[in-house]
Amino acid sequence: MSEDTAELEARLEEQDAFEPPAEFVEQANVSDDAIYEEFEEEWPECWERAADLLDWEEEYDEVLDASDPPFYEWFTGGSLNASANCLDRHLDERGDEAAIEWVGEPSDEENVTYTYEELHREVNEFAAALRDLGVGEDDVVTMYMPMIPELPIAMLACARIGAPHSVVFAGFSADALATRMESADSEYLVTANGYYRRGDALDHFEKTREGLGGVDHEVSDVVVVDRLGDDGHGYDLEDEEHYYAALVADHEGAAVEPVSRDAEDMLFLMYTSGTTGKPKGVKHTTGGYLSWVSWTSQAVLDVKPEDTYWCSADIGWITGHSYIVYGPLALGTTSVMYEGTPDHPERDRLWDIVDEYDVTQLYTAPTAIRAFMKWGSQYPEQHDLSSLRLLGTVGEPINPRAWKWYYKHIGDESCPIVDTWWQTETGGMMVTTLPGVSTMKPGSAGPPLPGVDARVVDTTGEEVDAGRAGYLTVNKPWPGMLRTLYKNDERFIDEYWAEYSDTDSDDMDDWVYFPEDGAKIDEDGYVTVLGRVDDVINVSGHRLGTMEIESSIVGVEGVAEAAVVGGSHDVKGEAVYAYVITEDGYDEDEEMRDRIVQGVEDAIGPIARPEQVIFTPELPKTRSGKIMRRLLEDIANEEELGNTSTLRNPDVVEDIQQKVGGD
Ligand code: PRX
Repeated sequence: MSEDTAELEARLEEQDAFEPPAEFVEQANVSDDAIYEEFEEEWPECWERAADLLDWEEEYDEVLDASDPPFYEWFTGGSLNASANCLDRHLDERGDEAAIEWVGEPSDEENVTYTYEELHREVNEFAAALRDLGVGEDDVVTMYMPMIPELPIAMLACARIGAPHSVVFAGFSADALATRMESADSEYLVTANGYYRRGDALDHFEKTREGLGGVDHEVSDVVVVDRLGDDGHGYDLEDEEHYYAALVADHEGAAVEPVSRDAEDMLFLMYTSGTTGKPKGVKHTTGGYLSWVSWTSQAVLDVKPEDTYWCSADIGWITGHSYIVYGPLALGTTSVMYEGTPDHPERDRLWDIVDEYDVTQLYTAPTAIRAFMKWGSQYPEQHDLSSLRLLGTVGEPINPRAWKWYYKHIGDESCPIVDTWWQTETGGMMVTTLPGVSTMKPGSAGPPLPGVDARVVDTTGEEVDAGRAGYLTVNKPWPGMLRTLYKNDERFIDEYWAEYSDTDSDDMDDWVYFPEDGAKIDEDGYVTVLGRVDDVINVSGHRLGTMEIESSIVGVEGVAEAAVVGGSHDVKGEAVYAYVITEDGYDEDEEMRDRIVQGVEDAIGPIARPEQVIFTPELPKTRSGKIMRRLLEDIANEEELGNTSTLRNPDVVEDIQQKVGGD
């Protein structure tokens, strides 16, 4: 390290607050801190500013209808179409500009640019095809697709005809697909025959068919994108299976009038993990959600039409829905979409793409940044990254070291970083600095966005003092919020509201949303999110339910009982630790371990694969028989253990500790 670099590192190391670069502030979409006060004074009318970013067919009568909390309605009486907002309205001015720059993983394959004109055409053709298959308004269409352009095309085609989509992450298992299709009563599926991963052509169709086999109701049609061409397995399609390209060709030049949707009509469903084993179908609506993602894309990601903006998430998760597809396209910008992994063919792939496309904003996850850090700064240094104007992170807490590495080695100390806290349920960002306004503090997401009433409270709902740990709550509704859990209003109230609300009240002030995150707040009102306080863990920014993993392990032959916790991991953030008791007559051996790992992969997918399987004769339990998960977490983290005297079986602890330490 040269002396200069060493000095720089030392300075960065000590610095705990960073001002937004003047050059950025000068051009920022939002640069006046008066916005916080204005939004507070004008609440809820302040959210007209978000709705104003959209084209409405019918103007709304009321910004917020809070007559029946927590079933809030936003922009009531208004109607609009999401696909018209993401496509049609840009055609005059931006028809020839790129809407999507798609980069396939094989580096020798041609990338594909979809101009707004081209995207509009294909969305119309596919919308016409879906209609012909019988898809009607409000029919849920499931998508089980990798990162190929046909995924956003299918989403927008559904939005055009008023059919909500439910995208299932392609890395999830066949079982996971079946559960989600069944829960949504979905009779249509769009899928692909495969995708490329680290140079290999991976089959996706066998898994799709296996999943379909597990759906109890009849699935009328399956559309298959031929991603692999000659590398594919050459399946013969059944009657109800159709190739995407043939359908689109049959509808060449078709024009489908966008269906007028009520602001509160469902735009999509997204399944996510919760406390119990069953995934929850989070319902998002057309008016509120689209306003929210458009406004936050503009205010936080500083998106402008002439930008080339890149969010490296997968569209199978909420981040991709909100910030690859809907937010950026509603604003008429260019959204980059990459199929593969950051280390193929080399560890500089992301920087190569930033360089080639002159990417202006990069939005990624802390887990990726920690991997880049581990690989070393020589990879970004091989490329010109000077086109970057803003950096963002999402999905999990970012440690100050990773933040500073990102700031220096990717942003060249001239890009603000937005650390954005939000969830599948919130639809879009909730807590983050405004990049053209606020001081940044590495490790802390920042203050709640203007108009967002987020607080850190104790168990009674009272705000905690600065520096103390508590629970994050959101005390006022917001347009992007989930409206309910699909066909399960009761669970919606139980999971998100019951904890801090007076559930008998009709007064919105008595209703408080609980995201199930722990947090602390400092004297400037900056929130540091500490992580989930429920049975959800966050592996590489992917949200997984420990209960779901446990039930998949208990389903393995020879397993008597299992407890799953998250242990900290220097790249993934958290990793899955599974403590397993085997039944009599079964050996605690490699074969058993493999079957457990396979059981988890089959039920959920490889992302949930346990990092460690620890066999134990007993699990630490309280006298009332509850598993002491906190203790199992401490053991996974090799931390000093707290009081074990309340345990029914304290002796087991040392035993387990030795097994984890010894592995
Ligand atoms: O624990 C919080 C964490 O991710 C959870 C939400 O996961 P999901 O619904 O999959 O959405 C991820 C993408 C928005 C939250 O409850 N989380 C998300 N962003 C942050 C975060 N934790 C700390 N800092 C963040 N910026």
